[in-house]
Amino acid sequence: MMDFPTWMSAVQDRTEAMLSHILPSTEKAPSRLHEAMRYSVLEGGKRVRPLLCHATGALFGTAPEILDAPAAAVELIHAYSLVHDDLPAMDNDVLRRGKPTCHVEFDEATALLVGDALQALAFELIATPQVTLPPIRQLEMVRLLGEASGSRGMAGGQAFDLQSVGRQLDVPELEFMHIHKTGALIRAAVLLGAHVGSANAEQLALLSRHAHRVGLLFQVVDDILDASTDTATLGKTAGKDAASNKPTYVTLLGIGAAKELAEQLRTEAHLALVPFGASANRLTELTDFIVDRTF
Ligand code: IPE
Ligand code: IPE
Ligand code: MG
Ligand code: MG
Ligand code: MG
Repeated sequence: MMDFPTWMSAVQDRTEAMLSHILPSTEKAPSRLHEAMRYSVLEGGKRVRPLLCHATGALFGTAPEILDAPAAAVELIHAYSLVHDDLPAMDNDVLRRGKPTCHVEFDEATALLVGDALQALAFELIATPQVTLPPIRQLEMVRLLGEASGSRGMAGGQAFDLQSVGRQLDVPELEFMHIHKTGALIRAAVLLGAHVGSANAEQLALLSRHAHRVGLLFQVVDDILDASTDTATLGKTAGKDAASNKPTYVTLLGIGAAKELAEQLRTEAHLALVPFGASANRLTELTDFIVDRTF
């Protein structure tokens, strides 16, 4: 097996190629919108959701070629969520992935349209017929991505986040917020990979449990990094949660207990993979990357 860093950069490279291929050229009208879409998606980000999709597919021995479209689709939704998350009406951030945010580089109306267009492109991509996938499975994948993106998933979590500013949440409320705003797309990335790998109901249930822990874990670490890392390393403004009065695991538990929770979630995420044995090694390594990441 390839070592983890080599595998990770190979998946990041093929994700970049797929995204660059699917995003309309800046030569096509409306060129400014296409420029803003490419600006917001390409050459940035860790590509954790595509990595999760590929690592889950790898568990079933799936060829990477048939994972590229769903992996890119979930990344397009993620990129759209970041563009909207940064808008003045939401988190009002000026820096993303080490560059000015979309609405700063372009304008707010363009940033709204970038989000709309990226979301539509994601569904166009995931719904494009793939001969290697039974249509009923592909239809379930489209449904799954819709559920994870909308008001019972990411967008719902974002609504809960906005209504929680300046409020003291309890642990179940904070968990609800994180599981939705961030966990839903993480879980979708894993389950899309599992569907491409023809997972059965039992395997889907195990992977769903794993992804649920990883989704929460991902946002717990994001909260910790916001409070403990500098802007240059993060590529986004550090200390933003405290400055904006956002309830986070750090404000609720303190940084020490938040780190302990991350370790507990790492263990639970690993345990959910035990029934798969060594075939889940890539997902286990990726879980460790998510906990140990520095940005
Ligand atoms: C940041 O996500 C927003 C959250 C959902 C926590 P990532 O940390 O995956 O951001 P990129 O894609 O690497 O920039
Ligand atoms: C973002 O959470 C979640 C989504 C974009 C859906 P945050 O607001 O904490 O993400 P960052 O810290 O700005 O990347
Ligand atoms: Mg936010
Ligand atoms: Mg934000
Ligand atoms: Mg954050």
